[in-house]
Amino acid sequence: MNKQNLLIKPENEAKIDKLISEMTIDEKIGQLNQVGPSALGAFEITLEEQKALLKAGRITKEEYEKIFSGQKWDNEEENVAAGKIGSFLAIRHPEKINRLQKVAMEESRLGIPLLIGLDVVHGMNTIFPIPLAEACSWDVDVYKESARISAKEARTHGINWTFAPMVDVGRDSRWGRVAEGAGEDTYLTSKFAAAKVEGFQGDDLSNSERVVACAKHFAAYGAAIAGRDYNSADISLQTLWETYLPPFKAASDAGVASFMTAFNDINGVPCSNNKYLLTDVLRDNFGFKGLVVSDAGSIGECLAHGNVADRKDAARKSFNAGAEVDMVSRCFVDYIKELIDEGDITLEQLDNAVRNILRVKFALNLFENPYVDLSLRETVCLCDEHRAAARDAARRSAVLLENDGVLPIKNKKKIVVLGELADMADEMLGTWAALGRGDEGVSLVQGLKNRGVDFTYSACYGVETPLDREAFDTAIKGADLVIATLGELRRMSGEASSYADIALQGDQIEVVKLLKESGIPFVSVLFNGRPMPIPEVKENSNAVLEAWHLGTEAGNAICDILFGDYNPSARLTTTFPNKTGECPIYYNHVPTGRPRGEIRHSCKHLDVPLDPLYPFGYGLSYTEYAYSDLSVELKDGKVYATFNVKNIGDVAGEETVQLYIHDVLASRVRPVRELKGFKKVLLNAGETKSVTMEVDINELGFYSMNMEYVVEKGDFELFIGHDSTTDLKAVFTV
Ligand code: GLC
Repeated sequence: MNKQNLLIKPENEAKIDKLISEMTIDEKIGQLNQVGPSALGAFEITLEEQKALLKAGRITKEEYEKIFSGQKWDNEEENVAAGKIGSFLAIRHPEKINRLQKVAMEESRLGIPLLIGLDVVHGMNTIFPIPLAEACSWDVDVYKESARISAKEARTHGINWTFAPMVDVGRDSRWGRVAEGAGEDTYLTSKFAAAKVEGFQGDDLSNSERVVACAKHFAAYGAAIAGRDYNSADISLQTLWETYLPPFKAASDAGVASFMTAFNDINGVPCSNNKYLLTDVLRDNFGFKGLVVSDAGSIGECLAHGNVADRKDAARKSFNAGAEVDMVSRCFVDYIKELIDEGDITLEQLDNAVRNILRVKFALNLFENPYVDLSLRETVCLCDEHRAAARDAARRSAVLLENDGVLPIKNKKKIVVLGELADMADEMLGTWAALGRGDEGVSLVQGLKNRGVDFTYSACYGVETPLDREAFDTAIKGADLVIATLGELRRMSGEASSYADIALQGDQIEVVKLLKESGIPFVSVLFNGRPMPIPEVKENSNAVLEAWHLGTEAGNAICDILFGDYNPSARLTTTFPNKTGECPIYYNHVPTGRPRGEIRHSCKHLDVPLDPLYPFGYGLSYTEYAYSDLSVELKDGKVYATFNVKNIGDVAGEETVQLYIHDVLASRVRPVRELKGFKKVLLNAGETKSVTMEVDINELGFYSMNMEYVVEKGDFELFIGHDSTTDLKAVFTV
């Protein structure tokens, strides 16, 4: 069901028509203009490159002075009163936001309120696990609830628009932004996208505890060549439609009210002036009715891309492609009027763009309710209910990768905790922490203290701090369990954080080897924003817990798992490589004519094992599950898989059942496995449940060479199991 039509309310459309009829061209263009805390340049390029553009005459001197020098946008209030600004981003002070809204409502000629956007990606004050971690819960209710809480806290600050969810499929962990998405799988990312939109927006945007969501970055940003942020995406149309577009379609169908264009080009056309993407796909195919905002400065960046002659050309091409709100490049506010005078843009086009923007403002009921009650923050933000939800989400996001029985911890006399990350609550907040603060968070050390655990701690090494061997030797003396913290700092993932080598940095691997030599049992706890090649950690640790960047309640949640109060249920949504050089690496690859195998002449790297370090869907529990009696049935256009799953251990647990499909024979080669269903199943020790999952036959299709979506007849293999390597299968024929 496509909820885009919920944005079209007849009573609002009539008001929009009336308002547009009263607006001047300048006031209409003002609605397209989004200003940041400092109207930083059309693009973040070096001074030398800016001067080169100046020298080449591709920007004027006053443009250079005004924009590239990074001046703050002068006289924000004066420009709001003049109707020159339609929205702001990254203003964090509700008092300032109320002041700007008051100017817009009372001093501008028509009293049009402002959209105030911020990246509330995984929390506002109460910070939830980074999306890549939360996706490992495989729980749409968790995805939705954290978005709902984040929206509620954001509104208490006057933020009415979040630049989230990020729904880029990420297959290359050298790309730091894998941290912000749901991982390498299209199906899971699509479910994540819809859940996030519903959590942020609810079913009525006029509710003052909801915010406008924004599906970003449209599109194929995760396909950046070599995992280098902002790099080109050179992919086939089939890959675009089969891998990268479905999560955006899911967000649109869920009613998302805004889209954000990506920085990258796709096959040579920058997303920010890509008419195929912004009009043919988004408007004509998806039926999207909300507004399209460019990413920060990305309209001006088309100058650097090289498919526009100057900033006026940038404005022309982006606007005609379908971009409507210009985030901080100021190309629209500088040139749209001239382009209309010259006939390159029609008044009707301008009215349509303004209509989409006003539609979002009316949906939020901002004309009636533009201000924020400044007293709300005190009781809403970081309240116990929100902290409890953050702790629960964190527990459900940490993935148990190894365990020889040392976990859960019982009757250990001398527990020693090592590494700087153990006591860095701020580092737990991850890449987009909005107003989250370390001093409101819980580190692992604090979590152990909260639990009353008797332990000693030594920060004898860190991600960038060399090992203090003497302190290390002293600290572990007499220990009967060590908890070693390893990983990345939060600034090492997220935007502009691509690495050519994503292995553990500094002396961290040395620490793992020394601990192995010591003979003391140790648990490695990883804090990171991307899958990492950690073979040494896997081989030497007694247990490994992938704790990502779990947010405000990280320390409490990790202790819940380490001491057995919570039986870990999370499963990876990205493949862990053995070495960086395997990137991009993902489970749903095609077989090739030389399927990966023992023989030398097969599709593999010679210097790593055949299998990834950890596969997609992998994760351990304190119990084990057995699958049996799989049968499949085709009926009414669906395939039904029925099977038993049993908890064969001695503690209750929540299994994440996964369903994969393989199209055995098709006119285009198909992935060896594709996730087409998942389900959480709660099982007491010894309990067996019969489970039935269904897949619509229409979901088994792909795009032919001439881009027709087809479901070809023939045999399909259906796999059910604990992760993507399961060999429990049945065959059915379409
Ligand atoms: C950034 C990011 C985008 C974010 C925007 C506003 O450059 O690419 O994800 O929403 O700017 O902060």
